[in-house]
Amino acid sequence: MTKNELKQWVASLPKVELHLHIEGSLEPELMMALADKHQIALPYANIEEVKQAYNFEDLQSFLDLYYFGASVLKDEDDFYQLMWNYLLKCKEDNVVHVEIMFDPQTHTERGIGFDVFMQGFKRAMQQAEQEWGQSCLLIMSFLRHLTEQSAIQTLESAKPYLNDIIAVGLDSAELGNPPEKFTQVFEMAKELGLKRVAHAGEEGPADYVWGALKALDVHRIDHGVRSIEDPKLIEFLIQSQHPLTVCPLSNTKLKVFSHMQEHNVLQLLDLGLMATINADDPSYFGGYLNDNFFAIIDHLPIQKHQLHQLVINSFNASFMPAEQKRKWLEKIDSY
Ligand code: HPA
Ligand code: ZN
Repeated sequence: MTKNELKQWVASLPKVELHLHIEGSLEPELMMALADKHQIALPYANIEEVKQAYNFEDLQSFLDLYYFGASVLKDEDDFYQLMWNYLLKCKEDNVVHVEIMFDPQTHTERGIGFDVFMQGFKRAMQQAEQEWGQSCLLIMSFLRHLTEQSAIQTLESAKPYLNDIIAVGLDSAELGNPPEKFTQVFEMAKELGLKRVAHAGEEGPADYVWGALKALDVHRIDHGVRSIEDPKLIEFLIQSQHPLTVCPLSNTKLKVFSHMQEHNVLQLLDLGLMATINADDPSYFGGYLNDNFFAIIDHLPIQKHQLHQLVINSFNASFMPAEQKRKWLEKIDSY
């Protein structure tokens, strides 16, 4: 198959996305429109200037813009529109199931409560489910640059909404904020019946992946590409089959890898780790799920069976009910 044929084929497959920050799907157009609506001054004259600002040195330089961008989200309708726009992309990209992260503290710190953003998110999710059968789950992520006490308060505020939240996660500035800092709140989440994921081994060392596995008892590792630096960890991940939600465009934009040709996702997959492909923050990193597949097809010597494995892995790595999983896997087998 040519690269173009591989792209068409992967685009046509039903897919799952497991590492997507809804605040990172805020497109410059919606950012400008909401700034206008709420009379918020942005340091950009037009959409081109917003896009030009998306030139990042590292994770922190991205996070600064990402939190700033989120400040235009204020009322229920804003959160509805944000979610709705992303779910339309899922339909376009054939993403039949998605597990979406949101950062409550980014909003509660500005005085915007769970009642506002949860209602907006839910309205869009219900509409997409009714209109084209979109399947989606929500993951509540704690900001690791804040204290564990703040995460505990956030979990407390989320209690009336736990029926709509499948898991807790951990994101934001990794270096200096190891998983162990959040042992207690993850234990509390586990007792409440929530599943657990955490960003680890993106900018942080392989030790942070061990920390997420041991101290937080996570089901999946978000990113995890630096696991490759520790052979014992790689051996463990092959045995345990903890999924890694890898994000190729994110990793090159934030200079985790200097070029897509250097990306190690194929290496991880061929070693037998449960690697998956995801978009992370599509509006900031230059593409949605299909674009991430296209980027690895363009720059890595990937073959059809490896793409197939990546897609199957994300179904298996998802939190969707077993029966739903079985049906989709049967369908994909016929592609
Ligand atoms: N890493 C850490 N925090 C984040 C990311 C990421 O890739 N995206 C949004 N918040
Ligand atoms: Zn992320």
